[in-house]
Amino acid sequence: MYDNDYFTLMVSIMTSSRFLTGITTTGTPHLGNYVGAIRPAIASSQNSNDEAFYFLADLHALIKCQDPEKVRQSGKEIAATWLALGLDVSKAVFYRQSDVPEISELCWILTCVAAKGLMNRAHAYKASVDANHVANEDTDYGITMGLYSYPILMAADILMFNATHVPVGKDQIQHIEMARDIAGRFNHIYGETFTLPQAVVDDSASVLQGLDGRKMSKSYNNTIPLFLPEKKLKKHINKIKTNLLEPGEPKDADSSTVFQLYTAFATADQTASMRKEFENGIAWGESKKQLFELINDQVRPFREQYEELLLDTETIEKTLQLGAEKARDESVPMINTIKKATGIGRFHA
Ligand code: TRP
Repeated sequence: MYDNDYFTLMVSIMTSSRFLTGITTTGTPHLGNYVGAIRPAIASSQNSNDEAFYFLADLHALIKCQDPEKVRQSGKEIAATWLALGLDVSKAVFYRQSDVPEISELCWILTCVAAKGLMNRAHAYKASVDANHVANEDTDYGITMGLYSYPILMAADILMFNATHVPVGKDQIQHIEMARDIAGRFNHIYGETFTLPQAVVDDSASVLQGLDGRKMSKSYNNTIPLFLPEKKLKKHINKIKTNLLEPGEPKDADSSTVFQLYTAFATADQTASMRKEFENGIAWGESKKQLFELINDQVRPFREQYEELLLDTETIEKTLQLGAEKARDESVPMINTIKKATGIGRFHA
């Protein structure tokens, strides 16, 4: 018994964790992305000894968006955001998915072991089918093979680098389970090749509310972009939905979007005193002014860097190419191992 515990302990110490996550390049990074994903990822890249792989999922972008200019612009904005906020690229491997062609190769190989029945159950695909039924359309209307196979490409992203931990939102947990399933099938057929990844869902990471009080999300068109110029940031914050309570009337902090956003950026002390101000009937205009100042003070030091980077895409590109090189140091030998396991590829090294 004791020996067994000791063994487990040693194994967990000796095997380090490898975190990997992708950001689909559609849309402009907003406060919700920042608080829920970017801020914790950058903090962990600066603090921990775990390995981190972060990439622009541009192949995934093609599933959702067929406007080349939008896809390109979003890639620039997302890369500039992560770099401006201080992602340490000497520690984290930061790359563009399409710069690592082995991922696409692996995607096909995995497509040949992934069960079609498994893909039938994917939420994103099922939601489209359901929407078609509701609209009285053909089941397959508007559904591409890209959407259908989306989880296989995601499995390739993860398994390519034998990631152990995949930080994702709740909506992506199913995809990580599919990646495990696909990895397990491959290992069963061809021998131990892939590590089975696990999803990391940070329940404490707040899901921010958007302008209308629903979850802040590009699909609801209710976001506050992270690096808006000051005046526009103020304008957006002024658009946050509130109720009709007058100045002086006590307000419920917990049901207020203004307060929720404030909390995501404030210290515990600041939050406590804002709660008091709500009880004391702070005017909505005043609460929004304070929210603007709080966010603006935190964003300002990075905004300039962000704007400079956006104008200097050469620097971004160089960084991404260095990242791709590091990624390919792993993916090239790995794809060779995988090909060999399946009986394809070169006869001799
Ligand atoms: N599908 C993910 C999303 O929309 C993005 C993504 C692509 C991803 N590949 C990944 C996340 C691999 C984690 C691991 O959020």
